[in-house]
Amino acid sequence: MDELLRMEHISKRFGDFYANKKIDLTVKHGEVHTLLGENGAGKSTLMNILIGLYQPTEGKIFVNGKEEHIDSPAHAVKLGIGMVHQHFMLVEAMTVFENIILGDRNVSGLFIDRDARRREIEELSEKYGLDVELDKLITEISVGAQQRVEILKALYHGAELLVLDEPSAALTDIEVEGLFAIMRKLVSEGKSIIFISHKMREVLHISDRITVLRLGEVIGTVNCAETDGKALASMMIGRELSASQYEKMEAKGECVAELKNVDYNKNSKHNGLNGVSMKVHRGEIVGIAGVDGNGQTQLAQLITGVLAPQSGSVELKGKSVSVYDPSSFIKNGVSHVPEDRNLQGLVGDMSITDNLVLKATTAEKFSRGKGLLLKKRDMARYAGEMVGRYDIRCTSVEQTVRSLSGGNQQKVILAREMESEPDLLVAAHPTRGLDIGATRFVHDKMIEARDKGVGILLISADFDEILEVSDRILVFFEGRIMGEYSGKNPPVEEISLAMTGK
Ligand SMILES: Nc1ncnc2c1ncn2[C@@H]1O[C@H](COP(=O)(O)OP(=O)(O)OP(=O)(O)O)[C@@H](O)[C@H]1O
Ligand SMILES: [Mg+2]
Repeated sequence: MDELLRMEHISKRFGDFYANKKIDLTVKHGEVHTLLGENGAGKSTLMNILIGLYQPTEGKIFVNGKEEHIDSPAHAVKLGIGMVHQHFMLVEAMTVFENIILGDRNVSGLFIDRDARRREIEELSEKYGLDVELDKLITEISVGAQQRVEILKALYHGAELLVLDEPSAALTDIEVEGLFAIMRKLVSEGKSIIFISHKMREVLHISDRITVLRLGEVIGTVNCAETDGKALASMMIGRELSASQYEKMEAKGECVAELKNVDYNKNSKHNGLNGVSMKVHRGEIVGIAGVDGNGQTQLAQLITGVLAPQSGSVELKGKSVSVYDPSSFIKNGVSHVPEDRNLQGLVGDMSITDNLVLKATTAEKFSRGKGLLLKKRDMARYAGEMVGRYDIRCTSVEQTVRSLSGGNQQKVILAREMESEPDLLVAAHPTRGLDIGATRFVHDKMIEARDKGVGILLISADFDEILEVSDRILVFFEGRIMGEYSGKNPPVEEISLAMTGK
């Protein structure tokens, strides 16, 4: 039997809205099958149906030719289906080992043979090159390592079909290479993978077949070898996306933010800054290039008042900062698109409207008496406008942010932070998890803001993005600035080398 999975005519309705409409999908043994589609196209919903988190409104699922009613994730595990979610589901207060054996298939009674389990996990980890430290807490390991834990966990529980929902979004290039090696090893053994990613280059590199979804429907399934990025993009968004070319700015306005010889955790290679001096001016985009985890997180936090420098100083619009806290930075015209939207950016259980006005609830526009009485109707009207302008795909502005697709959650933050008319916009990985159309949109918005005189600090692990929109590039390595480049044709190779400390 060549076919491991067949999903037939799957639909899923939320209220009046169909997130999936009559979807047909087959996955063969030993293939990487990619799901491609815009933010909100219905990819995660379909996968949540497959692993029993949601029940389909209609449709059938066959595993190895047999019809199955998958009513829970535990049931999916029994059928050999494992999923690594877009937002990881590990228990932070537990160790790697405890997370992996959680829900163990072999546990009978109270006694578990921990040593035997450990050996089994170590063997798996060795076999697939899934390098993890079993006794560390989840909070102590990197995002890439957490992902390896999730994969190891799925394999330990017997997965024959592994669903990877945007596994590469937050990984460094080297980690992505490692992930691909693991994926290839798995399919070479006849296991199957459903892969979800917005990165066209990766999709073309790793897939055997690709199924494109648009607005909840299948547009088509193609063999990877017989297609290209352009064709896929137009299947995805229903039109052609022209190549973008932004003009680089050299003229500089007033300095909106300056770091003067800032140290923070200066002996840490990955989580600190060492003697950093830099400026951001009005009307320019300063791009921070570097492999993730070379001090970029701390830079973003220092320049938005989340952290205070241990020595050196931060100046905003020429004035030295005396109080380091985010709210005084916000009052000083600093906006922040944080790298972790779930922890710092959004309140998941609140509505789109409430998240959009989160920082303005005492402003006259939305309240009387500095927040005493909220102008609900004005808030809703404003939210409606933002939903239109930023193309946030939702059923209503009252929908909770948690129920939005990943990319659409990101658009809510962007709308809030970009519409507040800041002097300085600090954008950390602003297009992570966004589809190609939405990515283009964000870039256009940033250029538009720059042209209006906003100073922008762009932090991104995506080198192409840095090259495309930055007017000036600073390269970070181990908490230091390794070089500065500006002009129309920055030396790409030299910058790449600087990113590795050379
Ligand atoms: N529980 C829910 N209640 C209401 N609407 C929902 C719910 N879950 C998903 N949706 C809607 O279904 C649509 C599809 O969402 P889904 O998460 O499947 O998209 P996606 O293709 O994974 O997008 P992304 O690339 O942004 O992750 C979205 O418009 C989303 O708002
Ligand atoms: Mg998704």
